[in-house]
Amino acid sequence: MVSESPMDPREEVIQAWYMDDSDEDQRLPHHKEPKELVSLKQLDELGVVSWRLDADNYETDEELKKIREARGYSYMDFCEVCPEKLPNYDEKIKHFYEEHLHTDEEIRYCVSGSGYFDVRDRNDKWIRIWVKKGAMIVLPAGSYHRFTLDSDNYIKAMRLFVGDPVWTPHNRPNDDLPARKEYLMNFVNKGDTQQSVDAAA
Ligand code: LAC
Ligand code: NI
Repeated sequence: MVSESPMDPREEVIQAWYMDDSDEDQRLPHHKEPKELVSLKQLDELGVVSWRLDADNYETDEELKKIREARGYSYMDFCEVCPEKLPNYDEKIKHFYEEHLHTDEEIRYCVSGSGYFDVRDRNDKWIRIWVKKGAMIVLPAGSYHRFTLDSDNYIKAMRLFVGDPVWTPHNRPNDDLPARKEYLMNFVNKGDTQQSVDAAA
């Protein structure tokens, strides 16, 4: 394929693909055979916003500061996922991988290690998003998702939030929540209108 623009720097730290259906270890990549990659644009269409930031200097990073100001991310803490640092590790790991949504955005900035955020496409197929050091992603409010470590078994993520954090997961199915309805309206059903606009263009 002819490359039309220089590589997006995010692509070095965020990669996404459709998952296979195997029941093997959740920490394996679960690529389809052949691989079916998913672009950042496709993620964007699902409301998954991302940035590539300087994870070695997050304390002084002006770009991070600007994003936090623009989006109102007043709250920040860190979540380190490993048995020594995460209380109730086994239980938490299990819950992270249960499909759920939140009534607010889930904002995660990987400052060390790596992990997989799985999201659903418009046809309810799983897309695996591999997030590595320097990647910051937003999973929109009302979008079903889950998280797992990869086979390196470690991530340190900055968690951001607008105001007082609410981490409550609502396991699927939870389709009557207003956040779910809004997500469907803004990102899933909107696709029909978008396609007719594209077709008319
Ligand atoms: C969370 C991720 C694991 O809810 O989805 O924190
Ligand atoms: Ni979540």
